[in-house]
Amino acid sequence: AAIVEHTFVVSQVKMTHLCNETLATVVNGQFPGPTIEVTEGDSVTVHVVNKSPYNLTIHWHGVKQRLNCWADGVPMITQCPILPNHNFTYKFNVAGQEGTLWWHAHTSFLQATVHGAIIIRPRHGPNSYPFPKPHKEIPIIIGEWWQIDLAQADLDIANSVDVYFSASTINGKLGDLYSCSGTPENGYMLDVEPGKTYLLRVINAALFAEYYLKIAGHKFTVVAADANYVSPYTTDVIAIAPGETLDALVVTDAAPGRYYMVALPTQSPEPDPQSPVLISRGIVQYQNLEKPGNSPSTDMPMAPEMPDNKDLIPSFYFHANLTSLAQHPHQSPVPTRVDEHMFITLSLGSTCRRGGSSCKRSGSNESVTVATMNNVSFQQPAVAAPLLELHYHNSSSMDMLQDLLDKPPRVFNYTDPTLIPPGPEEAKLEPTAKATLARRFRQGAVVEVVFQGTALLQSESNPMHLHGHDVFVLAQGEGIYDAARDTARYNLVNPAIKNTVHVPRLGWVAIRFVADNPGIWYMHCHFGFHQTMGMVGLFIVEDGTTVDTSLPAPPVDFLTCGHI
Ligand code: C2O
Repeated sequence: AAIVEHTFVVSQVKMTHLCNETLATVVNGQFPGPTIEVTEGDSVTVHVVNKSPYNLTIHWHGVKQRLNCWADGVPMITQCPILPNHNFTYKFNVAGQEGTLWWHAHTSFLQATVHGAIIIRPRHGPNSYPFPKPHKEIPIIIGEWWQIDLAQADLDIANSVDVYFSASTINGKLGDLYSCSGTPENGYMLDVEPGKTYLLRVINAALFAEYYLKIAGHKFTVVAADANYVSPYTTDVIAIAPGETLDALVVTDAAPGRYYMVALPTQSPEPDPQSPVLISRGIVQYQNLEKPGNSPSTDMPMAPEMPDNKDLIPSFYFHANLTSLAQHPHQSPVPTRVDEHMFITLSLGSTCRRGGSSCKRSGSNESVTVATMNNVSFQQPAVAAPLLELHYHNSSSMDMLQDLLDKPPRVFNYTDPTLIPPGPEEAKLEPTAKATLARRFRQGAVVEVVFQGTALLQSESNPMHLHGHDVFVLAQGEGIYDAARDTARYNLVNPAIKNTVHVPRLGWVAIRFVADNPGIWYMHCHFGFHQTMGMVGLFIVEDGTTVDTSLPAPPVDFLTCGHI
């Protein structure tokens, strides 16, 4: 196995879109950032040089970091943030994982522009893919263009000020639905040869929205999700929530020509009902091989028919249709014994701006809206060293963690519209506590979690992401989870294996995983604003019975906070 080495210089560069120059924080001057390409089993070394004005960390989204929680990249949970003008080197390996993952800054709003693909190829070469060997492999990173100061936006979100992105992007390009003084913006251009198979490695790196992706005149065959192979599933529309990755084959069997590739956010910025749906449009362009030298046609490309952006039914079915590819050597069977059950509601609540309990419940500007799990909103711990380090040294500061994840709030069943109390939106929010939520698991425990969405989240589904583990997605459903009825529907044979689980709007999802990786693992909604607002918890996996399965000591060059 090789060592793959990268240097990521994070800096601010000026980028111009929609006639405006914006200062964007990016890696190596690129948006999206560089792709890390590795072979399964390789080691990866990334030297991060922080030339930006922000504290930051990089998270390797979906990389399991087995016995290596120190490299997981969550500020003040697994490491001290890298201060401006400082460096830090991440080292990890990608054993036992194949497919597409990604990396991103784990400071929620830096993630908007500090991200890129991780491609892990099988160690026996492309002939060992469990699908036809593709002619070419293409990363397709869906993102957003923000024209506001994202650091300020992060503060605004925490103060219940709404923020909105300005455009959707495919591989950093806005597309011809946007223009500056009448000149259309460039869209992402994919040149293809007729009659070939392309592997698109699709990543949703957006903060704000789930997306539908379509290519006019073509179908996708989905072959992997979150770097786990799935039974080939052919569809004309891909649904992908923030944090998810999907590998899909596209055969260029249409009449040679030009076809739009469209990324449609399922939520478009409100509050202006006139505001356009912020679609990014790229073009798949067939090369004219018969007449070499002929430039490709400039005819108007064919446009796909898109689902309605408010219609989440295609997404529900898309996610329900993913099943794992049986008998792949990297995939273990679903454990049938369950040691720990959890039920976690996802919702919004209201808390006092200044802490304390005397602010008016709603309507007053003393209260702020927060995002919750079981009606508790995550409080970033006020600690001098990362929690993981405190945990490693058995520090008593760990006592501040609250084990509250298992107590659903008194009222959560707003998935039934008749139960929604009348009145303004804010009046429906329950008073909410803030706490550093954590749940401890004995190493090796089999954990089952049901995530329950609520109507307070209005129009959204929730992509829940767990660090350090993959999980089996046993079932999903609409409405309120009912164990007596719904456990009978669990797929214990070939459930999809994911790191980011799509909780359908007004519905639930049941997952199971083995808590086998010692450390402190972030578990959160991958909507950037939900994370900022506190839809976060920590899973602590501890008590390895043998030395070689416990958390090793921190790396020698581990950062100290303040870097003294
Ligand atoms: Cu991709 Cu904790 O995130």
